[in-house]
Amino acid sequence: MGQYVGAIDQGTTGSRFVIVDEHGAFVSIAHKEHEQILPKPGWVEHSPSEILKNTLDVISEALDAAGMQASDLAGVGITNQRETTVIWDRRSGEAVSNAIVWQDTRTADFARSLAGTFGADAFRQKTGLPPATYFSGPKIRWILDQHPGLGQRAIDGELAFGTIDSWLAWHVTGRHVTDVTNASRTMLMDLGSLSWDQELCDAIGVPMSMLPEILPSIGDFGPCRGVLEGTRLTTILGDQHAALVGQAAFGVGDTKVTYGTGVFLLSNTGAEIVHSNSGLLTTVGYQFAGEPATYALEGSVAIAGAGVQWLRDNMGIISSAEEIESLASSVPDNGDVYFVPAFSGLFAPHWRDDARGVLVGLTRYSNKGHLARAVLEATAFQAKDVVDAMVADTGIDLAELRVDGGMVANTLLMGFQADILGIDVVVPSITDTTVLGAAFGAGIEAGVWSGVEDVPHLRQEAVRYRPTMDAGVRDRYLRGWSKAIDRSLNWIEP
Ligand SMILES: Nc1ncnc2c1ncn2[C@@H]1O[C@H](COP(=O)(O)OP(=O)(O)OP(=O)(O)O)[C@@H](O)[C@H]1O
Ligand SMILES: [Mg+2]
Repeated sequence: MGQYVGAIDQGTTGSRFVIVDEHGAFVSIAHKEHEQILPKPGWVEHSPSEILKNTLDVISEALDAAGMQASDLAGVGITNQRETTVIWDRRSGEAVSNAIVWQDTRTADFARSLAGTFGADAFRQKTGLPPATYFSGPKIRWILDQHPGLGQRAIDGELAFGTIDSWLAWHVTGRHVTDVTNASRTMLMDLGSLSWDQELCDAIGVPMSMLPEILPSIGDFGPCRGVLEGTRLTTILGDQHAALVGQAAFGVGDTKVTYGTGVFLLSNTGAEIVHSNSGLLTTVGYQFAGEPATYALEGSVAIAGAGVQWLRDNMGIISSAEEIESLASSVPDNGDVYFVPAFSGLFAPHWRDDARGVLVGLTRYSNKGHLARAVLEATAFQAKDVVDAMVADTGIDLAELRVDGGMVANTLLMGFQADILGIDVVVPSITDTTVLGAAFGAGIEAGVWSGVEDVPHLRQEAVRYRPTMDAGVRDRYLRGWSKAIDRSLNWIEP
């Protein structure tokens, strides 16, 4: 029998377990969606117990389907939606409330007050992040403040905080751990020392006793138990960082853009911590045990595929995500309609929590085809904005863009993306790079592959989209987009 590794991909919309063989082929996959709990405008929650149960279920399902046992896996990796915040009771292992999801905007006032008191640059310098609703620290404080007595219990050491990776690792290994990539999204970790920072914790009001141990992403997290008894946890990587590894973006300047729930550009900056002047974040790319961390610049866009899901679930205009392509193709162009999906405010490069979604340019002529087109085009415009920011920061023009994620199946979107960027857009043969990255990490640590040079060569080009749009037309689109962004700002009043 060959060698196998497992990867848990716990995402914003669902949980997956994938078994990968030594050639990098997917042998077995199981998937389950979980509920999006939307109690108020701008609020997004998940049930930690549902996520845990679904994760354990898909592990069992995928193992059963392959006729395998956990002990057949050389190692297992976790990759996860980042920043989403869980607090649980150390004794019972039960969460004290729903998880507050990364897209949730309820901490806007608090984030603004942090910027006011300490200055946005204080956080940027140490953590690579501006104070924003996106990150975990303010979400921790919010949960502690909402439930009487929790603050004291946290100080007394009775409560544990974790992002989703920690929550799952706690239950599969019994250890309270996280990795450097997930920790770099909390506003609590010093990027240089890769450790929790007392000043940051004091500023946000998070007792350090709640925090997990920070470990390298690709390393030994210990033996598993329960459904994974017989194997070891050998990787934890935030989903976007796993995609960087899955695209084998190990060289300085290697850049990928993932199109899923949101759009996330990551560009490898090597051992150097590069601070952005253009609204990008600085984050840990990944870290192998015993080696220094590799850093990255990141352009995070909250809503991309989630806008497609919104058309499907909230508006009922399409019945599946794929259907958006035929609907959008029913019209020759956007009919001058623009959509800014600022559902969670705007992340990179704007960082405006006062923005909300707008649909502009409507006339009697507009129809649902134009709306579908505007939703798709918004994804391409947002990606263009973060690519421009990256080029401004690094001074290096991109020759082509390496893309992945669920939305790259959409040929209309990818063609428009190439047109709007004016460079080739390259889709690899395996677009599921998140789960692949977690599997590669897990397999390298477990000895299935001897190092990054040895991982199966999967960076195979499947499709290349070349720009064909005339520059004048492109400029007109970009002017329309820029006006639409202006219209989305200043909606929420402080
Ligand atoms: N053909 C398509 N056209 C447009 N959007 C699509 C298409 N197929 C899938 N999507 C969108 O892509 C997203 C799913 O992609 P993917 O699984 O990569 O997302 P993700 O961000 O990893 O999700 P999660 O956070 O749950 O892991 C969904 O938001 C879906 O609406
Ligand atoms: Mg995902």
